[in-house]
Formats: sequence, C-alpha cells, structure tokens
Amino acid sequence: MDMIINTARFVISNSDYRKCPAERRHEYAFIGRSNVGKSSLINMLTGRKGLAMTSATPGKTMLINHFLVNDSWYIVDLPGYGFARRSKSDRDRLEGIIKNYVLGREQMTNLFVLVDSRHEPQKIDLEFMEWLGENGVPFSIVFTKTDKQSASATDGKIGAYLQKLLERWEELPPVFRTSSEKGVGRDEILDYIEQMNRLPLCD
Ligand code: GTP
Ligand code: MG
Repeated sequence: MDMIINTARFVISNSDYRKCPAERRHEYAFIGRSNVGKSSLINMLTGRKGLAMTSATPGKTMLINHFLVNDSWYIVDLPGYGFARRSKSDRDRLEGIIKNYVLGREQMTNLFVLVDSRHEPQKIDLEFMEWLGENGVPFSIVFTKTDKQSASATDGKIGAYLQKLLERWEELPPVFRTSSEKGVGRDEILDYIEQMNRLPLCD
C-alpha cells in the first residue's frame, strides 16, 4: 500500500538545530547543492505545490525548515551548500548550520542527499558524502531532474556516478531517481520513509 499524505504543514524555520521541534518524531532531511531541487522534491512528495519555497535562482532556502506530515513525522528542507556566488562568510555560516544540524539532530532518521542526474560527480558532493560516512550519518542518494534528459542518458550518468562512489565505498547507499516535474520517484521514497517510520527512534 502506498503511503497517503493526508496533511503536510509548515511548522518552523530555524538557524540553530537546538531550537528545532523538541518532540521525538522520525525526521527526514533533504540536502544538496543549491538549486538541485530539494524544495521542489519536498513539494512533489507531499503533493503540496507551495509548501517549500522554490526558486530558479540558487540560494533560496536559508534556514532549517520543518514540515509536519500526517501529524506524525517531519520533513526538513535544508539550505543548499556550495553556492559560489555567496560571500565566503555566508557560505561558512550556512555550512555551520547544516553541519551542526546533521551531527546534532538525533531525530534525523535519514538524510537524502540530492545530486543532479545530468551532472558528472562533483567534488563538493563526494566530499560531503565522505564526511557523512566518517560521521556515521545514515543517508541515501537522490538523482534529481531526470525529466531533463533521456532515460538512457540518466541510466548512463547514474551508472557512472555509482562506479565513482565504489572507488571509495565498499557498499552503496540506497539510490533513488526523481523528477519533481513528473512525479517520478515519489512512491519509492515514500515507501522507504514508511519502512523507516516503523522502526523505533534510537536514543
Ligand atoms: P536552494 O533552496 O536554492 O538550495 O534550491 P533547491 O535545491 O531547493 O531547488 P528548488 O527546488 O528551488 O529548484 C531549483 C530549480 O530547479 C527551480 O527552478 C525548479 O523548478 C527546478 N527543478 C527542481 N526539480 C526539478 C525537476 O525534477 N525537473 C525540472 N525540470 N526542474 C526542476
Ligand atoms: Mg530550496
């Protein structure tokens, strides 16, 4: 049975993870380079077009945004990393927000790392995943914007990407492919979340 989203509502924005909602609920966060499609994916998954703010201009999301789904679990929209046209101090500040959240937020059950399915592996993403691995953070990879190229081009890019990861990793994390435009990948990601929602939260 596919998960049904009955309600999804914005709860709060924070720059500091310690001010995020205190209740212990499962929480799934979305991260990746600026403009990769995090906010669009959240809207696609929840079926609420204007829930997370999206923009064609990179750097839209600047805070940790909590959305409560079905009154039972959270989706979190995070700022993008690596936006070159921001000042160094802004980038450092955002990186601090992201890294403190990722390391400190005990409720975070899984981090979805988004990568543009059209791109070659980028150093900034590979390094970020490496850092997640070193810190034991559970994550999966989401290849976004698959509607922007042919299915065979997507297959080729993802295959090459996973090959690249296998140079450093013994085991691959779960992998999803999505198009927020076409609704591709929605059932797969929601199924995955539903499975994890059944597991107890660890302390
Ligand atoms: P920041 O918050 O700035 O870090 O960006 P973001 O990762 O949240 O990206 P956002 O969802 O705002 O999307 C960026 C742009 O990509 C917007 O113009 C979206 O319409 C477009 N976009 C996102 N996902 C898709 C997709 O699956 N297909 C297509 N064709 N466009 C997409
Ligand atoms: Mg965003």
